[in-house]
Amino acid sequence: MSDVASVLDELREHGLYRRLRLISGPQGARVLLDGRPVLLLCSNNYLGLADHPRVREAAADAAMRWGAGAGASRLVSGDMTVHRRLEEQLAEFKGAEACVLFGSGYLANSGTISALAREGDVIFSDALNHASIVDGCRLARAETFVYDHCDMDHLEWGLQQADGRGSLIVTDSVFSMDGEHATGCLGAGGRGAVAAAGLDGEVDLLVGTLGKALGSYGAYVCCEHELAEYLVNRARTLIFSTALPPPAAAAAMASLEILQAQPERVDKLRRNARALRDALAAEGVEYGDTETQIVPLIVGDASEAMDACERALARGIFAQAIRPPTVPDGTSRLRLAVMASHTRSELRRAASVLAEALDAAAPRRPATEPVPAGPRAIYDRMAEAA
Ligand SMILES: Cc1ncc(COP(=O)(O)O)c(C=O)c1O
Repeated sequence: MSDVASVLDELREHGLYRRLRLISGPQGARVLLDGRPVLLLCSNNYLGLADHPRVREAAADAAMRWGAGAGASRLVSGDMTVHRRLEEQLAEFKGAEACVLFGSGYLANSGTISALAREGDVIFSDALNHASIVDGCRLARAETFVYDHCDMDHLEWGLQQADGRGSLIVTDSVFSMDGEHATGCLGAGGRGAVAAAGLDGEVDLLVGTLGKALGSYGAYVCCEHELAEYLVNRARTLIFSTALPPPAAAAAMASLEILQAQPERVDKLRRNARALRDALAAEGVEYGDTETQIVPLIVGDASEAMDACERALARGIFAQAIRPPTVPDGTSRLRLAVMASHTRSELRRAASVLAEALDAAAPRRPATEPVPAGPRAIYDRMAEAA
């Protein structure tokens, strides 16, 4: 075991120490953070569904009807009617043949990748894929080729080298620290990035989380029946883990219904994201080039990003600093997450506070484009862990 105290000291020294902050009450636009009221600008409750009365009621009713927990893994005795109904509704929403629920997005990604790619196969993974994908690659006995971020020529070159070996290409649709989660946010009615790109039916497996725009917890994989059957038989994170709690499944179902009945929520989110970008531009703050509700303000240095976060927080704006290893070295940032429930004036005030906080914390304003660390560094980390 490594020396715990010295690891913590080292993290503090490099501005990488993390601590848990405490929020009282639900995830709304305004929350009590460590006892103080703040505007919440880093929650993934994009559509305001986690604290929606109908979603909360659905969770409460499900707890009374099915109990608080599923009691076992799905294959043992934990597969309940509420799970099956949610799978059917998600499959229909995504236009897929079948759907398999998992405990979380992390478990869905790591379990699916490690189930599909086997010894002798090659996984092709984008350099900026989420940690849950990276860990899925680590768990698989396959070789991993990390291609440069969104570089299709590099990917194609890699595929040629694979020389007929079984190949699995894995990519986030919207990259978590630069863009963000697609279901509920992108595509007509929030149907996701694949629908937005007109690629329905072209992708073998679609993974989505229920923990962000859909305001609950858990995740799903949409695919063909045979692949779903395969995952139920082979995905260790499904087989060896307790099924999703019924209240979480019922809450996700209620959110899905609201999303389908009120697509204007998605439009409001987009308008709010545009309003925040405009307000930041008016303050002279440069932001990462994204179209989504996530607006990254790249600071670079981890300690400076943390300093900017604390300064904004002191003035009632909570925008978490995101540092390595979540993002590549040298690209620490404030990752702003807009919600449909923010008001325009809240967003304007946030932009003004953040502009001052960034000016005070970092000598220069953030750069427009993040400077991703080379994929080699990430590959090395994966190789080390293998
Ligand atoms: C891109 C991406 N993939 C996967 C996950 C994991 O999902 P979950 O929070 O449901 O475990 C997250 C966020 O946590 C994410 O941002």
